[in-house]
Amino acid sequence: MTARIIDGKAVATQIRARTKEAVAKLKRAPALAVIMVGENPASRVYVRNKIRACNEAGIISIERHLPDTCSEETLLAQIEALNHDDTVDGILVQLPLPPQIRSGLVLEKIDPDKDVDGFHIYNTGKLVTTGGGFKPCTPAGIMELLQAIGYDVEGKHAVIIGRSNIVGKPLSMLMLQANATVTMTHSHTADLRRYTTDADILVAAIGKPKFVTADMIKEGAVVIDVGVNRDENGKLCGDVDTEAAKEVAGWITPVPGGVGPMTIAMLLHNTLISAQKRQGLSD
Ligand code: GUN
Repeated sequence: MTARIIDGKAVATQIRARTKEAVAKLKRAPALAVIMVGENPASRVYVRNKIRACNEAGIISIERHLPDTCSEETLLAQIEALNHDDTVDGILVQLPLPPQIRSGLVLEKIDPDKDVDGFHIYNTGKLVTTGGGFKPCTPAGIMELLQAIGYDVEGKHAVIIGRSNIVGKPLSMLMLQANATVTMTHSHTADLRRYTTDADILVAAIGKPKFVTADMIKEGAVVIDVGVNRDENGKLCGDVDTEAAKEVAGWITPVPGGVGPMTIAMLLHNTLISAQKRQGLSD
């Protein structure tokens, strides 16, 4: 079998175009505040891409770059001011934060109605219970990709490798809401292959280059690769050994061009939803 490629770039482009059209219909352009602390090179790239994408969609970006030495108090004060600024629809604090700053505390400070990253515990709670809050962008993007290929997850076995707060845990909840049977696996899972070889949908979100090998994949499975790593030659690669996996999987996301572009598309989408709500155009 040669897997079909899930073109995240194309799906993201469609979502961004739809978002741009909806943005143009608003009374006031949405605004997203993006806060970065320190000089993490990967974060710099992510933040730059997010700001560029905002501009392309007609969303105003407000960039706040704070030094590595920034105190927790200073960051919290910035968030507080943005919470009270009626012209701001979304607030995003790029993670990771320097060690002197407690991420949990910072994320809880963001007004849940402006939490377009979906990381606030209020939105996390909604995700686990009733749904309806902001959904974290990468997991929401993965669900969009499955929809785009016409794959119904109901009754399927979804196996997620990695239990991060950003991807693995929230994705498990979205899959559960969509009536998949979900298995969470992680670094302490004994006999990982036992689970992965039974997966109809296999999601790798661990940050280890080419960790998932072809022998771990069930014939015809949908393989979603969330990893962004460098291989031994410094070449960009995912958490899956893509070339070998293609021979076994039914569908697979490439790296780059798979899950990555969806994260930004869903961030723009969440910012639009926030602006629509705040302008009384949806509830
Ligand atoms: N760091 C890695 N991924 C993300 C993300 O989606 N949002 C934020 N704020 N930080 C991140």
